[in-house]
Amino acid sequence: MDNFEYLNGSLNCEEVPLSRIANEVGTPTYVYSRDALERAYLAYAEALKGRDALVCYAVKANSNIGVLNILARLGAGFDIVSLGELERVLRAGGDPAKVVFSGVAKKADEIKRALEVGIHCFNLESDAELDRVNAVAAEMGQTARISFRVNPDVDAKTHPYISTGLKENKFGIDIDSALDVYRRAAALENVEVVGIDCHIGSQLTELSPFLDALDRLLVLIDQLADEGIKLKHLDLGGGLGVCYTDEVPPTPAEYIEAISERLGDRELGLVFEPGRSIAANAGVMLTRVEFLKQTGEKNFAIIDGAMNDLIRPSLYGAYQEIVPVELREEGETKTWDLVGPVCETGDFLGKDRELNLQANDLLAVCSAGAYGFVMASNYNTRGRPAEVIVDDNKFVVVRERERVSDLMRGEHLLPKDA
Ligand code: LLP
Repeated sequence: MDNFEYLNGSLNCEEVPLSRIANEVGTPTYVYSRDALERAYLAYAEALKGRDALVCYAVKANSNIGVLNILARLGAGFDIVSLGELERVLRAGGDPAKVVFSGVAKKADEIKRALEVGIHCFNLESDAELDRVNAVAAEMGQTARISFRVNPDVDAKTHPYISTGLKENKFGIDIDSALDVYRRAAALENVEVVGIDCHIGSQLTELSPFLDALDRLLVLIDQLADEGIKLKHLDLGGGLGVCYTDEVPPTPAEYIEAISERLGDRELGLVFEPGRSIAANAGVMLTRVEFLKQTGEKNFAIIDGAMNDLIRPSLYGAYQEIVPVELREEGETKTWDLVGPVCETGDFLGKDRELNLQANDLLAVCSAGAYGFVMASNYNTRGRPAEVIVDDNKFVVVRERERVSDLMRGEHLLPKDA
């Protein structure tokens, strides 16, 4: 975790005690460190200095407009997958000319809006999507810049749900048919072929799958050049892993250096779409212990954060560290399952954790800055948590906690006479 440290037995984010945030904003609450976000982004930007390159933060990892604003101010680009994400980027002051649009099924209205604001590139995933983008651009009298997401058929060696670069996955265009699709695109009136992209999976902790994918893409890039289709950029997607427990993933600098070596003297701009490696370790989710319940079998700590607030443990069996906000000297360490109030056995944030707990304690679920709040739901009609950004010794609520009235917005009773 970056910028979350104990000071006199109390866990701080930058210079703000997390207990202060919990007392003023309540729990569960996501807390992000501005400085950690900035440093994680700059690790990419600085390693790419002097190159024709774009770091397009993957908005899906954490789309709070406060977070996007911090990155936009540093000049970041953005990788989006929906109209909603595009509007967030614009609202946060992001430059549309630095936006790439990913995703397997862009709708006509999404394409239209992206063309209107002048995004950098559409990352297309199928023949059919090519036709749709060409048709919408033609209607608008425009030319859309496009890239194809190629599926290189490499094993990212990560969780199957977040592995995307294998033949059996729904993503991208099979590398063996890519040449034909590029030829077809080159002949269309309203698209300009500018790039190639791939994204093989998330939470990769080794370089070799990235480099295998790159090698396959380079063969294709050279074949295309021989046919007169000269690409301007190569987009390697996101995927760089982070440390949740004891993983030691490559740094952005190591990753970028290894890629640069492989590129040789090809004149290709580079695009990256990092999400997790920018946001994950910049955030925690704060939660409070409601009750301790000890059965003959198990010790349960029932906390106020649940699977609807942070679904990664339930969905992927993901492990995220859970630490006390205030260290306690007296008392006894026991083994606890940390479970939420949702009516499902799968509602846990951690199992078999050694902690010295009492009711009312505050806990921080670590590495929760990416794929945390964004995957939260209203299951059990629970309002989603508040979000806070800490900046030195100050903090700002960048998203208010949802109220029950928010949860029924847009719902209707049947008419009285029905
Ligand atoms: N680009 C594309 C096209 C993607 O599909 C993704 C993530 C990224 C970039 C960003 O990847 P990252 O740098 O964050 O690895 N909910 C899962 C992760 C799903 C990732 C989906 N795609 C989790 O909580 O682990």
